Amino acid sequence: MAADNGVRVSVLGLGAMGSALAGALVKAGYETTVWNRSPGRADALVAHGAKAAATAGGAVRAGRVVIACLLDHASVHEVLDPLLGELAGRTLINVTTTSPAQSRELAAWAARAGVAYLDAFQEFAAVIDGGDYTVEGQQSLEFSSLGNLLAASADQGISTEVVAMVQRLIQRQIDAGHGAEGFARIIESIKQPA
Ligand SMILES: NC(=O)c1ccc[n+]([C@@H]2O[C@H](COP(=O)([O-])OP(=O)(O)OC[C@H]3O[C@@H](n4cnc5c(N)ncnc54)[C@H](OP(=O)(O)O)[C@@H]3O)[C@@H](O)[C@H]2O)c1
Repeated sequence: MAADNGVRVSVLGLGAMGSALAGALVKAGYETTVWNRSPGRADALVAHGAKAAATAGGAVRAGRVVIACLLDHASVHEVLDPLLGELAGRTLINVTTTSPAQSRELAAWAARAGVAYLDAFQEFAAVIDGGDYTVEGQQSLEFSSLGNLLAASADQGISTEVVAMVQRLIQRQIDAGHGAEGFARIIESIKQPA
């Protein structure tokens, strides 16, 4: 484990994504507290240096930065509505997948409670609303290309039907000269079918 870097982080939700995030935080030297609704999912992380909280409230109180990696918009409210008072003054990073409208709702919900709030999907929605795909910090279309995944899937006889459709949306924007712009630009492919 890397040396403690002084930032206390809590992760709520230890599914595939939350466990990977928490593991990376521990490895990077963050004092990491984890909580999961169902028991047992924290064990491997605790073995690597994370602390397990018995309740979501315990995890929130342990972290200056709280990362929510739950199932959906409803589960974020279910877990955090009762803890809004305790979240005030902390930073909440929500990586739970939500729709743009749900993302905006959560940003307003957090702001009303005095919670600093970051949400990947809020940024995505803001870029789409603003229509400026050159805003810094976005993953580029070229980086997002699924070409290698498609080739590997085809080699192994795995259906490429869905991935190929997304890649066509990406490729049309790259071909139009927008490869260095953000992934949100695929909305332009969706708006204007080929
Ligand atoms: N996996 C990825 O690569 C990835 C990438 C980007 C974003 N995401 C997003 O990250 C979120 C989590 O993904 P995942 O792959 O980790 O999902 P997952 O493996 O299905 O895990 C879901 C997690 O949410 C918890 N949960 C579900 N409903 C809950 C509720 N009502 N109250 C409290 N906890 C609840 C589950 O707890 P239990 O163990 O108790 O069921 C579990 O910890 C999703 O929104 C997903 O779309 C995932």
